[in-house]
Amino acid sequence: MRKVVLAGIVGLAALGIWLVGAQVYAVDESNCLQCHGKPGLKKKTPDGEIDLYVKVESLNTAAHRFIDCTTCHTTNPHKVETPLTKLSLAQKCGSCHQYEYKQHLQSIHGEQLAQGNTEVATCVDCHSPERDPHGVMRVLEYKAPAYKKNIAGTCARCHGDEQLMKSYGILEKVYESYMRSFHGKALQLGTYELAQLDAATCTNCHGVHDIKRASDPASLVAGMDNLAKTCDQCHVGGGSGLASGFLGHREASPDRIPVAHYTEVFLTILTTSVVGLGVLVMGTATIRYAANRWRE
Ligand code: HEC
Ligand code: HEC
Ligand code: HEC
Ligand code: HEC
Ligand code: HEC
Ligand code: HEC
Ligand code: HEC
Repeated sequence: MRKVVLAGIVGLAALGIWLVGAQVYAVDESNCLQCHGKPGLKKKTPDGEIDLYVKVESLNTAAHRFIDCTTCHTTNPHKVETPLTKLSLAQKCGSCHQYEYKQHLQSIHGEQLAQGNTEVATCVDCHSPERDPHGVMRVLEYKAPAYKKNIAGTCARCHGDEQLMKSYGILEKVYESYMRSFHGKALQLGTYELAQLDAATCTNCHGVHDIKRASDPASLVAGMDNLAKTCDQCHVGGGSGLASGFLGHREASPDRIPVAHYTEVFLTILTTSVVGLGVLVMGTATIRYAANRWRE
């Protein structure tokens, strides 16, 4: 008898999870998830369908899991105008995070967003792995897109897309060149410990919520004076020396910084020949050894 009751309870729980979706650990005081926790809920708009499913798995680990739905959506969410665009999303985040929002609006990304460009970065592009307003992660979580070790990869979601960048006339391969640099390598080799992540990533040189065009005089990388100050944050006292020899994302070529270019070519030839010679010597030695053994 007890077994039947137990099986019944387990069955009911399974049915409940199946009906409501995954187990909810986030705050949901008004039971909004009885509808929005089920995949498939959609809204038809003139521009197409908008998914109204709130993914419970993301919600459960989100930075906002202890904030009730109605704090962000009012107690009458179906009566307020919710355009559900990339800009209205940023505005909602900005209603609480006013400082970040104000900076964002003055950055190249936010400025473009306000003008209707939806290809630029906004809050969820840098704070949620799935670009989900309900899946925002705390900055210091290892898997957060804004965690220092992951930032370059987050920018590369767009800045690693050659086609997209070409359409804006941004021709330097910024992600590849960064990953090849000593800073990129140092961050790649370091563990996830913050203490090991002291090298520069994109945001140390360009800013975080206030990223400007590289040619904007207010950019942290515009002109030798600004650039030297940027390097000086970490290379105390050595900024201007380092900045003057810095190539940025540009590759050295015969007509651009020829000394660096030919040094690179020379070093490549040198390492290749040293390694090649080593392989040759090892190879002949092995063959001679094998031949001797066989003869014996
Ligand atoms: C009985 C099911 C149900 C419940 C409960 C429910 N919703 Fe909805 N919700 C819907 C449907 C259906 C739509 C789409 C309405 C439409 O097509 O205009 C929607 C739309 C929305 C939208 C999109 C904005 C809009 O105006 O279309 C938001 C945001 C939203 N709901 C939030 C909530 C929140 C927050 C709660 C809890 C306080 C909640 N909902 C409770 C069914 C529900
Ligand atoms: C920390 C604030 C916050 C909390 C808490 C929050 N939301 Fe949202 N929600 C947003 C933002 C921001 C958007 C995007 C709005 C836009 O695009 O205009 C959004 C969008 C939505 C949408 C539209 C579909 C979508 O995913 O873009 C629904 C439905 C919704 N929320 C329901 C809920 C429910 C149900 C809860 C509680 C379990 C909840 N929200 C909790 C901030 C929040
Ligand atoms: C281009 C990427 C990017 C965009 C867009 C972005 N953020 Fe951030 N955000 C970051 C990074 C990276 C950090 C970590 C800051 C650091 O390391 O100092 C951060 C930190 C934060 C923090 C933690 C407190 C702080 O300021 O350090 C909050 C809150 C925040 N962002 C909210 C927002 C909101 C709201 C928006 C949209 C208006 C937004 N962010 C847009 C990259 C971004
Ligand atoms: C209702 C106000 C409110 C809204 C709207 C809101 N947040 Fe938050 N946010 C908070 C609070 C409060 C915390 C701190 C939560 C905690 O520590 O438990 C927080 C935490 C964060 C953090 C983590 C900061 C850290 O130090 O790691 C980020 C990132 C963030 N929010 C980004 C966003 C983004 C992006 C949006 C829009 C999708 C948004 N927030 C919408 C109130 C809000
Ligand atoms: C969702 C896509 C997206 C993400 C993510 C993104 N960006 Fe951008 N970014 C763009 C687009 C598109 C432009 C071009 C805007 C224009 O020129 O009008 C741009 C412009 C820029 C510019 C100005 C380039 C110039 O013309 O000088 C810089 C610098 C920049 N982004 C840095 C970053 C950094 C650093 C990150 C990561 C922290 C980042 N972006 C994340 C899409 C993105
Ligand atoms: C050590 C400092 C430093 C780091 C780290 C850095 N940048 Fe830059 N970035 C610069 C400088 C200096 C320039 C301007 C000169 C140039 O274009 O090379 C620049 C230019 C840019 C441009 C404009 C390029 C163009 O063609 O107009 C973009 C976009 C950009 N950086 C994005 C990024 C991204 C994304 C990352 C991380 C993957 C990153 N940067 C890391 C210093 C840095
Ligand atoms: C966020 C801190 C930070 C910023 C900003 C920064 N660097 Fe670095 N840089 C480092 C660290 C840490 C290392 C050591 C990396 C390693 O090898 O472990 C390093 C290494 C270097 C090296 C390799 C040689 C050496 O001294 O170890 C050069 C060259 C360099 N940086 C140039 C620059 C230039 C130029 C700028 C400004 C455009 C700059 N850095 C900005 C942290 C930074």
